[in-house]
Amino acid sequence: MLKSYGRLSVADGEACMAKEAAKQVAELILRNNRAGKPTVLGLATGSTPEPLYAELVRMHQQDGLDFSNIITFNLDEYYPIDPTHPISYHRYMNEKLFSHININPDNTHIPDGRAASDDEIKARCDAYEQAIRDAGGIDLQILGIGKNGHIGFNEPVDTAATHWTQLHTRKVPLAQSTLEANALLGTPVRHAITMGTATILEAKNILLLAKGASKAQTIAECFGGDINTKIPAGILAADPRCRVILDEVAAAGLSEAQREKTFAGVTLGM
Ligand code: GLP
Repeated sequence: MLKSYGRLSVADGEACMAKEAAKQVAELILRNNRAGKPTVLGLATGSTPEPLYAELVRMHQQDGLDFSNIITFNLDEYYPIDPTHPISYHRYMNEKLFSHININPDNTHIPDGRAASDDEIKARCDAYEQAIRDAGGIDLQILGIGKNGHIGFNEPVDTAATHWTQLHTRKVPLAQSTLEANALLGTPVRHAITMGTATILEAKNILLLAKGASKAQTIAECFGGDINTKIPAGILAADPRCRVILDEVAAAGLSEAQREKTFAGVTLGM
């Protein structure tokens, strides 16, 4: 069962969440496929979107959902990391989605996390932004949220809202809480290459997913009241292009009144 509050949907469990998210993605793909237009998707990693990817794979295999005209840009990758490393997001995307659908591998993009000089990294990041622009921009950016409220690997800082509108793809240090949450302490990874919050905000539509008790407080801090500019995800609260799907556990810190107040109104885009 799904309860709707304008731009927010609260699902009774992970399967329901995945079905709703996949429905929204598939509607966009089908519409663009019918019009002969490519669909540019921004993709996220982590445990939250896994059931969404499984459902998209099912839609491809059983319903014939066609990914041949899809272009993808992933949010982030660890640094330093080889794309074949078991914890790399390259591996994750191939295992969870790309190897099971008819997407052209040349149309998939993930930030390059291989060790390089600062100049080389900057050139790669600028080229990533250019590739997004060349593709016509991201039609729909899928987001998870870190326990500390990060989106991509844009970590919280004590700052004004304008800060977030200036950050594009770049190398960033990971917060200690992220190193712990993502079990990175036993690896050389201390940084990531991430799309910036400005890159994310340039997407035409955004779909944020969160599930589980560990996200309830973060969700309440981001979407429960005044815009919280210290937490990156907080910048999405008032954005009419951002839809949110939560499971009941992650939504538990938001009262009915808060859900209606933050997410009321029309959804633009899609
Ligand atoms: C990583 C990714 C984020 C993701 C977060 C949450 O840190 N960089 O994009 O949202 O994990 O992961 P999970 O869905 O496993 O909680």
